[in-house]
Amino acid sequence: MLKSSFSYKSEVDSKMENEGSRKPTSRFSLDTNFCEIELQNPLVLASGVLGVSVDLLKRVVANGAGAVTTKSIGPVEREGHNNPTVVEIENGLYNAVGLPTPGYLNMDEEFKRWSEIKVPLIASIYGSSIEDYVEITEYIQKYKPAIIELNISCPNKEDGMVFGTSPNLTKELITAVKASSSIPIMPKLTPNCDNIAEIAIVCEGAGADAICAINTVQKEILHPKLKVPLLAYGKGGISGPIIKKIALEKVKEIRDAVEIPILGIGGITHGKDAVEMLKAGANLIGIGSGVYFRGMDVFKKVCNEIEQIMKKEGIKSINEI
Ligand SMILES: Cc1cc2nc3c(=O)[nH]c(=O)nc-3n(C[C@H](O)[C@H](O)[C@H](O)COP(=O)(O)O)c2cc1C
Repeated sequence: MLKSSFSYKSEVDSKMENEGSRKPTSRFSLDTNFCEIELQNPLVLASGVLGVSVDLLKRVVANGAGAVTTKSIGPVEREGHNNPTVVEIENGLYNAVGLPTPGYLNMDEEFKRWSEIKVPLIASIYGSSIEDYVEITEYIQKYKPAIIELNISCPNKEDGMVFGTSPNLTKELITAVKASSSIPIMPKLTPNCDNIAEIAIVCEGAGADAICAINTVQKEILHPKLKVPLLAYGKGGISGPIIKKIALEKVKEIRDAVEIPILGIGGITHGKDAVEMLKAGANLIGIGSGVYFRGMDVFKKVCNEIEQIMKKEGIKSINEI
């Protein structure tokens, strides 16, 4: 069982300490548990927005994240797409970064430093074949990430969603990775498929320990005046508040279909969004674009906002939600 040593201190706690008050015996608790891993709060840095650098991930932890996810790590070195790769749109971000990666065999220096991160670390990986996913899983296990996230849902790479849109391929993939992993595995699903609940059921049946949803929503957006694609890749995925409604719907569909825990992601920037995500059936809440919109300390801010809501609604523990 992993135990995070990062201690989240809420505004309520800090105020009481400053005033010399005694802590109440029944303070609000944001502690939670996911795949038997203990977290001090349910907020997780989503994959991709801040890369794989351990120094950056540590800054996210210092800013209140309960867990962090690396950018997706691939089988071989890959540059990604040409600029522009990320633009701000109304209420969101539009990106086609294209999964740049040094390749897992060139990342030992970074992997060795994972132990410096004092909250659970989720290693996100991707591949073009079942063998890719199995090889990366087998290799990175020795660096003891808390969970291995299988990105089968990237809309910005030619074959990025091949697995995540096919129940049969998903089943084969999860079965193979599960057989090679001693660490919990969590496929990350795409909303750009016919039936996300069906994919989730297949994942659960094949032994997935948890589900992560959703990745970005695929779109082709043109420049309003020039009528040329906004991004060099031509198409891309949208994220941020603009996708919150879709994310909540997809998480609810998954919750109704499976029993395993869900890391719910998509459009979460404020405490009220996080509470909505929990009520839709998520156990943890991922924040990606929210870092761009509210700053690195979005995690502390959202924790405080969740606590305020809990206080107002008389809820003592996050697990009650
Ligand atoms: C710039 C950018 C890069 C991303 N890179 C990855 C990635 O490498 N792997 C992945 O699984 N998801 C990636 N995502 C998707 C996010 O992890 C998240 O699922 C999505 O943005 C929705 O959450 P949000 O609305 O909080 O941003 C990326 C998103 C953005 C905006």
